[in-house]
Amino acid sequence: AAASKGGHASFMVKEMLEQPEAVRRTIQDRIGIDGSVRLDGLGIEESTFARINKVVVVACGTASYGGQIAKYAIERWCRIPVEVDLAHEFRYRTPLLDARTLVVAISQSGETMDTLMAVRYAREQGAVVLSICNTQGSTIARESNGVLHTLAGPEIAVASTKAFLAQVTANLLLALYLAQFRGSALREETFAVAKELRRIPDLIQRTLDRAGRVNALAADLREATSVLFIGRHVGFPVALEGALKLKELAYIHAEGFAAGELKHGAIALIDQGQPVIVIVPSLRHSSLLHAKVMSTIQEVKARGGWVVAVADDGDGVVAEWADEVIAVPESSPLLAPLLTTVPLQLFAAGLAAEKGLDVDQPRNLAKSVTVE
Ligand code: G6P
Repeated sequence: AAASKGGHASFMVKEMLEQPEAVRRTIQDRIGIDGSVRLDGLGIEESTFARINKVVVVACGTASYGGQIAKYAIERWCRIPVEVDLAHEFRYRTPLLDARTLVVAISQSGETMDTLMAVRYAREQGAVVLSICNTQGSTIARESNGVLHTLAGPEIAVASTKAFLAQVTANLLLALYLAQFRGSALREETFAVAKELRRIPDLIQRTLDRAGRVNALAADLREATSVLFIGRHVGFPVALEGALKLKELAYIHAEGFAAGELKHGAIALIDQGQPVIVIVPSLRHSSLLHAKVMSTIQEVKARGGWVVAVADDGDGVVAEWADEVIAVPESSPLLAPLLTTVPLQLFAAGLAAEKGLDVDQPRNLAKSVTVE
């Protein structure tokens, strides 16, 4: 087993380090140099995609947070309404589906029973089902009308890392692909972002190279009993994923919130020294959202919270307000989750290691849940 971990302390560490390659393989041959996106062999006709008037994303756990990012991308670039549902909630709320609904089922394993049941239900209702799976020949892939494979390679550690970044990548590719037939009003933006996506694997590598700083932070917080994560726009699902990782791996109570929601309740949790990790939107790309998140940081600080900001390299403002800044390379807003998630994974794994826990096999969890 030591050999298959490639000399790393755990499969999870090995898989985190494989993330640049997982994303590179997932985009390879799918984005042209001009920024056009081709998804060959999906199994669903272009004419079917052109008719779609609603998208419903279904998934569980980490995959569902990737799905939330798809909503921001598809609604912006394609102007098609998108709903995101946990697969186990979807079937029981009598959703409105028809032949013009695209159901996107996201699953690393392709065997999650809740997601499979959602796929079967959607097909019975006549919807078009595209799955995004990492495992070739999986049940969910076989039972869908079409499949877009993430090419992260086998993921062994229970907590998903490289498969998550590959899912986010596939979601963005799908959004960019759909935008091409929808006569997107943001055509130039979509082509520019597709080109930028080709460079993201190198930026993920640069983010991983900064692990030392994150590990030091994990050591500082080893006694923490609760950590809050907040984000806005696509930083919100990233916050949810950061909190999930910490719960799964380090058994620390953690919660993710939308930054704007804090004042509607969760701010009551902030007292002296409460650690709050804030995913900060790009100052250059979204100065309005950036300003709003800065004011949330000030609200937290005013109540004694201890703020760690995950912000981009070009952000000269955040250091004035946050106690600690973890910098990631700058990117377009919708690509940022591919970078901002990485320090949160490293943080959860680092804290678990500090506590002497087995990051590959956390208690009570299974890699794939094949019961409802
Ligand atoms: C389990 C795993 C999670 C994973 C979820 C969905 O609960 O512990 O890490 O996110 O299943 O798995 P899937 O294979 O469908 O992506």
